[in-house]
Amino acid sequence: MDKTLIVSPSILSCDHANIESEAKKINKSSADWVHIDVMDGVFVPNITFGLPVVKAFKKHSEKMLDVHLMIVNPDNYAERFIKEGAGMLTFHYEACTHIHRLVSQIKSMGCKCGIALNPATSVTLLEDIVSDLDMVLIMTVNPGFGGQKFIEHSYSKISRCKEMILKNNSSALIQVDGGVDNTNAYKLADAGVDVFVSGSYLFAAKDFDANVRLLKYPVKY
Ligand code: DX5
Ligand code: ZN
Repeated sequence: MDKTLIVSPSILSCDHANIESEAKKINKSSADWVHIDVMDGVFVPNITFGLPVVKAFKKHSEKMLDVHLMIVNPDNYAERFIKEGAGMLTFHYEACTHIHRLVSQIKSMGCKCGIALNPATSVTLLEDIVSDLDMVLIMTVNPGFGGQKFIEHSYSKISRCKEMILKNNSSALIQVDGGVDNTNAYKLADAGVDVFVSGSYLFAAKDFDANVRLLKYPVKY
């Protein structure tokens, strides 16, 4: 694989009683970003954490905070997540009405902006905004929980997303989130993925950094 891949460990699967040491473990590893899954129990059937956890990671982390909002009305909260330290803020297409306005607002605050798509949401819906985006997040599971099975249909969606990005001269990265591990990383990167989010695969590992490296430098399975 000759392109540089970015790895963003999802702290949904970390030890929440030890945020400082988990942040330091990520600092010491080859991971590039820290993925923070904010769930509101409305947009998705689960509640995780919010602003105080972003603030806590900001205090201890040397990596960019990649905040994934799985919440309704993300426009009401974007500014506060950026003030607490988000370096990339991603919200769901399905959760926002005035997408262009929110993308502009996030970028005007000096934060990078991504849009996430649920598995059944078509990439074509981003045609008129993709040139403004820093990232498209293709969900490879239905959002809400860690440890779910990767949806195989995602490969063709990633290829279609890559085509759309190139066609629109966009520099948006493609991120995948859900069920990512060493067995699918190469095929995903080959289809066009730039950024891997991974939770259970990384945090269940005996050697965290070894698994990060298996995603960063994937081999064919
Ligand atoms: C799912 C979350 C993911 C989750 C991925 O709704 O957005 O970031 O942590 O977990 P794994 O890698 O265990 O599928
Ligand atoms: Zn996520």
